[in-house]
Amino acid sequence: MSTLTTDVLVIGSGPAGASAALFLATHGVDHIVITKYRWTANTPRAHITNQRTVEILRDLGVEDDVLAQGTPQDLMGDTVFCTSLTGDEIGRVRTWGTHPARRADYTLASPSSNCDLPQTLLEPILIGHAAERGSRVRFDTEYLGLEQDEDGVTVTVRDRLSGHTYPIRAKYVIGADGGRSQVAKDVGLPFEGQMDLAGSMNIVFHADLSRLVEHRPSVLYWVLQPGSDIGGIGMGLVRMVRPWDEWLIVWGYDISGPPPAVDDAMATKIVHDLIGDDTIPVTIRSTSLWGNNKMYATRYRAGRVFCAGDAVHRHPPSNGLGSNTSIQDSYNLAWKLAMVLKGQAGPALLDSYDAERAPVGKQIVLRANKSIDEFGPIFEALGFTESDDPAEKIANMRARTENTPKAAEQRIALRKALELKDYEFNAHGVELGQRYSSGAVVADGTPEPEHTRDPELFYHPTTWPGARLPHCWLGRDGQKVSTHDLAGKGRFALLTGIAGQKWVAAAELAAKQLDIEIATFVIGAGREHIDLYDDWARLREVEESGCVLVRPDAHVGWRSWALPADPAGDLAAALARLLDRA
Ligand code: FDA
Repeated sequence: MSTLTTDVLVIGSGPAGASAALFLATHGVDHIVITKYRWTANTPRAHITNQRTVEILRDLGVEDDVLAQGTPQDLMGDTVFCTSLTGDEIGRVRTWGTHPARRADYTLASPSSNCDLPQTLLEPILIGHAAERGSRVRFDTEYLGLEQDEDGVTVTVRDRLSGHTYPIRAKYVIGADGGRSQVAKDVGLPFEGQMDLAGSMNIVFHADLSRLVEHRPSVLYWVLQPGSDIGGIGMGLVRMVRPWDEWLIVWGYDISGPPPAVDDAMATKIVHDLIGDDTIPVTIRSTSLWGNNKMYATRYRAGRVFCAGDAVHRHPPSNGLGSNTSIQDSYNLAWKLAMVLKGQAGPALLDSYDAERAPVGKQIVLRANKSIDEFGPIFEALGFTESDDPAEKIANMRARTENTPKAAEQRIALRKALELKDYEFNAHGVELGQRYSSGAVVADGTPEPEHTRDPELFYHPTTWPGARLPHCWLGRDGQKVSTHDLAGKGRFALLTGIAGQKWVAAAELAAKQLDIEIATFVIGAGREHIDLYDDWARLREVEESGCVLVRPDAHVGWRSWALPADPAGDLAAALARLLDRA
């Protein structure tokens, strides 16, 4: 029997693998996806879908599906801290950019809105469109091992239905097999950090809780119940899955002991305790256990094997970054693989995947873990750390309502502690502010622009090479289009102004020389793309005669301050460096 061959084998169909498949299919790259189970995720783990991810999916033409199925931003943000859903409300934080003062930041930064889309709904959108566009997807197919040589990788897989084991030969492999990645282990990727620092259980259930939440719609309700657990603080999370009748509770357990056997009775009791009303009918759908990790790979590539997603960054759900970052990893990798496979780029372009994404992985792992630590000041403000006795903790928490100097201090401390949670729930800079430095970015000799506001909380738009293309609305045929709508689509884009008209011919020449596609856009009065509000003129950071060269992943690859003597030569030289064609 002849060996099955393909250009790229994707292992896993979670957010990293399914999106890799969608990107490769859209770029016309021959590939196969294998995935262990019979279908996509069976529990709604990831849900916060940030603007960067939605605008990537916009590039792929599936934004409408995501927004149609997701819960909109308006219903995401009245995040509550309480003693139960029927109990005392301790405080609220406006989250996910819903504070009126933050809405402008989010609206100005991206053509796309964030939303809440459970993983159970996102994955079928990704894999469905991928299959429609040419992915060959093999469910019930398990990765067993691999061997690589100079020309390719031979992967051994098992059909879990028949038990049949067979090889697949690929030029490249993407290991997107999640937080316990066998692929990362087999190719020996180096990791820093620790796994399983704390234990959590997920309880998915149906219950109509509209009455308890409709006046404060949010995707997260944090419940503090000292004494309801063994040894810890007693904090649980009631998370909306579908408004307002499908929910997921995250509850802790002691990971140093044996894993708890969570039956329906135990799960129902936890649910009723956190709701604070045991008369509400509850149907338990599923329970599962998972570990909180603080681990990241310092290298994402071993030869022809690339890992993406949780395979290389493992962290708690805080900040909602896991699935988002996994999709963004694959978006970064896919166009590079496509161009190398089509002979449009040299192999060194693939080195930039590591260089660009590993620092992001480290950043989000540390950020998510810090966000867990930043619950500490809330516990301190509520007096939880003053005693081990649950009754005293509850009394300390209640004491904040008294008319005493100590209680007034407690209230100030609580306010500050809740404000600190902006770094978890409104970390717009972390979500959008990634600036790459690698061989696939050609510097223009200017220093990196300083962040004028907190870099984690606020996104700072810049066209500095390596940064994400700033968004603004342009006019075309009487309609509004984003600068991001000009970018992407698997090809380069060059943005210039009327005085930079000569870049069009320069780009045509460079594209011909390198056999690549460059879409050119002269933005200005009387042109196809009009700078409706002069926002592009304010954002572009180059002269009207300069240009901004945008990579297929909407990051700036190079820019020129003004029209040089030889624009075609300068552009071709920059592209040749970026694409390892020098
Ligand atoms: P993922 O684990 O999703 O997928 C791995 C894939 O590999 C699966 O398809 C599996 O079948 C396959 N596989 C594994 N072993 C295999 C083998 N040997 N052979 C073949 N296939 C194999 N993130 C976020 O962005 N926003 C959020 O709001 C949240 N919220 C959240 C809440 C909770 C409670 C949890 C536990 C997690 C989150 N996350 C999150 C994190 C998010 O779920 C996680 O980061 C992504 O699922 C990671 O996607 P991957 O595709 O990398 O792995």
